[in-house]
Amino acid sequence: MLKRVFSIAVIAACVFLYMIPAFCQEDITFLLDPAFEHPERPAAMFEHDAHNEKAGIDDCASCHHVWEDGKIVEDESSEDQKCSDCHTVKPESGKTGLRNAYHKLCSDCHIQKDLGPVTCAGCHPKGGAAPSAH
Ligand code: HEC
Ligand code: HEC
Ligand code: HEC
Ligand code: HEC
Repeated sequence: MLKRVFSIAVIAACVFLYMIPAFCQEDITFLLDPAFEHPERPAAMFEHDAHNEKAGIDDCASCHHVWEDGKIVEDESSEDQKCSDCHTVKPESGKTGLRNAYHKLCSDCHIQKDLGPVTCAGCHPKGGAAPSAH
């Protein structure tokens, strides 16, 4: 019995430790979507957590949305999926292509709030937004 409790504890600890690198990985500092096979522009600036904190966006689904019947579904989010899982590089008819998806999501809010970059170079700085640029 004791042995069994012990091994459950070990498994729990391993699951926990395994999750740590997964959390670290979520610290996005720029966006360069591998779905674009031949990128024309350098990586876009986007420090995921810091951006959302500064911009005061609490709802993950403001970006990681779920749609049904032409509407955003309340209280559901899709952060376990990539934008490219649902938005294809070559837009399907009546659907938002991947490049437009990013541009519309990011720029519409910046324009609306009159905050955040709205020019090409403002988001895609020369040389790219690699973390080393900070
Ligand atoms: C608000 C930020 C923002 C602005 C403004 C913006 N972009 Fe982007 N753009 C992005 C993001 C984010 C992506 C997706 C990440 C990536 O680059 O792969 C992207 C992707 C792209 C792509 C597809 C990937 C590639 O490099 O081929 C192109 C082309 C592009 N942008 C060109 C432009 C041009 C031209 C302008 C100005 C008219 C512009 N962008 C303005 C954020 C922005
Ligand atoms: C301003 C828009 C925005 C908001 C708000 C936002 N995210 Fe994201 N997040 C993104 C973008 C863009 C990506 C990159 C998606 C891709 O690569 O397809 C991303 C990626 C992720 C990833 C994948 C990380 C990885 O390494 O691939 C996770 C997990 C995530 N976000 C969680 C969250 C959670 C949790 C929240 C709410 C607390 C949140 N996001 C809020 C834009 C946002
Ligand atoms: C689970 C699937 C799914 C994921 C993941 C997803 N979307 Fe969408 N998105 C949709 C659907 C469905 C629509 C509505 C049909 C369309 O416009 O393609 C939509 C619409 C949009 C629109 C158009 C909104 C409008 O008002 O016309 C933008 C912009 C957008 N998505 C950006 C993104 C970005 C950026 C990401 C990644 C952070 C993302 N989406 C992730 C499914 C998804
Ligand atoms: C719902 C609104 C909203 C969305 C969606 C959004 N932003 Fe922003 N963004 C803001 C606001 C507000 C600021 C200004 C924050 C400040 O400095 O007070 C900002 C600032 C920025 C900045 C300036 C540096 C910084 O981190 O403050 C960059 C770069 C940026 N956004 C990129 C993006 C990209 C790329 C996307 C799409 C993946 C995006 N944003 C989506 C609201 C938004």
